[in-house]
Amino acid sequence: MKALVYAGIGKMTIEDRPKPEIEYPSDAIVKIVKTTICGSDLHILKGDVSTCAPGRILGHEGIGTIESVGAGVTTFKAGDRVLISCITSCGKCDYCRRGMYSHCTTGGWILGNEIDGTQAEYVRIPYAETSLYPIPQGADEEAMVMLSDILPTGFECGVLNGKVAPGSAVAIVGAGPVGLAALLTAQLYSPAEIIMIDLDDNRLAMARTFGATQIINSADGKAAEKVKTLTDGNGVDTAIEAVGVPATFELCQKLVGPGGIIANIGVHGQKVDLHLETLWSQNIAITTRLVDTVTTPMLLKTVLTGKIDATRLITHRFKLDQILEAYDAFMHAAETKALKVIIEND
Ligand SMILES: NC(=O)c1ccc[n+]([C@@H]2O[C@H](COP(=O)([O-])OP(=O)(O)OC[C@H]3O[C@@H](n4cnc5c(N)ncnc54)[C@H](O)[C@@H]3O)[C@@H](O)[C@H]2O)c1
Ligand SMILES: [Zn+2]
Ligand SMILES: [Zn+2]
Repeated sequence: MKALVYAGIGKMTIEDRPKPEIEYPSDAIVKIVKTTICGSDLHILKGDVSTCAPGRILGHEGIGTIESVGAGVTTFKAGDRVLISCITSCGKCDYCRRGMYSHCTTGGWILGNEIDGTQAEYVRIPYAETSLYPIPQGADEEAMVMLSDILPTGFECGVLNGKVAPGSAVAIVGAGPVGLAALLTAQLYSPAEIIMIDLDDNRLAMARTFGATQIINSADGKAAEKVKTLTDGNGVDTAIEAVGVPATFELCQKLVGPGGIIANIGVHGQKVDLHLETLWSQNIAITTRLVDTVTTPMLLKTVLTGKIDATRLITHRFKLDQILEAYDAFMHAAETKALKVIIEND
C-alpha cells in the first residue's frame, strides 16, 4: 500500500509498505477514506517530537471503512464507517478511567507518532472499540475528519482549560486550523470578545468570518499593546496559545489579565521563558494539555446538528498519491491560503 513516511528532519517520502494486519484481538484494520495533515505533523518534520522516529507513517486523523476486526472487537464489524480518534485509549487503565485518554498507559497520541498512522491506504487501530466512533448515517464525512483532532483539541485544551465564559475576553494566538477550531467552539460559551492574533492576514480574514470580534497581525510587535487597548487596559481572561513557538507563549504572558488563564495548545520543541517577575502577583493560571478527545461524542452532535460548521475549515482536496503536494500547500499556507487539506484514498 502507499504511505507517507517521515524520513528524518525536513524529509518525507511516499513508500510502498505492507498492508497492516491484526496484531492484537482488540485491533481493527481500517481502510482510509479521508485523512488530513496537522500542525503536529509539521512539528514532527521539524524534529520537535522526539518519540517519532524516521520510518514512521505519519497521520493521526481521518475516517475510513473497517476492513477487519480482531476476535475481541464486538461493537464494530467489517464495512462499518468510522471516525478515527487521534488518541488511542484502552478504556481500562487508571488514566482512561479518569477520562485522561491522552495518557493511556498503552495508548495516547501514538498514531502517526509511535505507531504507523493514517496517511496511508490502511491503518491498524489498537483498542478499536474505544478509539473509533461510528459515523452516523447522513453525516458530512469531510466534517467528520475535523473531529479526529482539531475540534476536540481547540475545545478541550483551549476553551475548556481556558474556562471561556459568557461575557469574557479571549485572545487566541495562532489562526491555523487548531486556533480556528478554538474560535468556533469558544462561541458555544458566548464570550464578549474573541481577539485572533497571527502573522498571516489571510488566516486573520478567515478568522473574522468565523466570528472573531477583533483581528491583530502581530508582525509589528505591538499585539500586546493593542490587546490592552481593546480590553480597557486589563488584558484578557483567557489567552489561548495555538502555535507552539516560544514567541507566542511569551506573547500570551503579556496578554493575560489579572485572574486570567493561559491555556497552551501548541506542541513546543524548545524551552520558553516564564516571566514570574511580572506574573507572580497576577493570580493567573497556566494550563497545558494533550487532547484527551473526551468531548468527541458531544462535538459530533454539535457538528451533526449544524451548531458548528466544521466544513468551513476545509480549503483544499488532494488524492493520496498527491500527498506531497498537500503537504506543500499546508506548509505554505500564507501563499496557498490553505487551512485543512482533505486527502482522499479511493
Ligand atoms: N495539545 C494538543 O493536543 C495538540 C493537538 C493538535 C495540534 N496541536 C498543536 O497546535 C498548534 C496549531 O496547530 P495547527 O494545525 O493550527 O498549525 P498551523 O501550523 O497550521 O498553524 C499555526 C499558525 O500559527 C501562526 N504563527 C506562526 N508563528 C507565529 C507567531 N510568531 N505569531 C503569531 N502567529 C504565528 C501561523 O501563521 C499559523 O497560522 C501546533 O503547535 C500543533 O502541533 C496540539
Ligand atoms: Zn494533530
Ligand atoms: Zn488506557
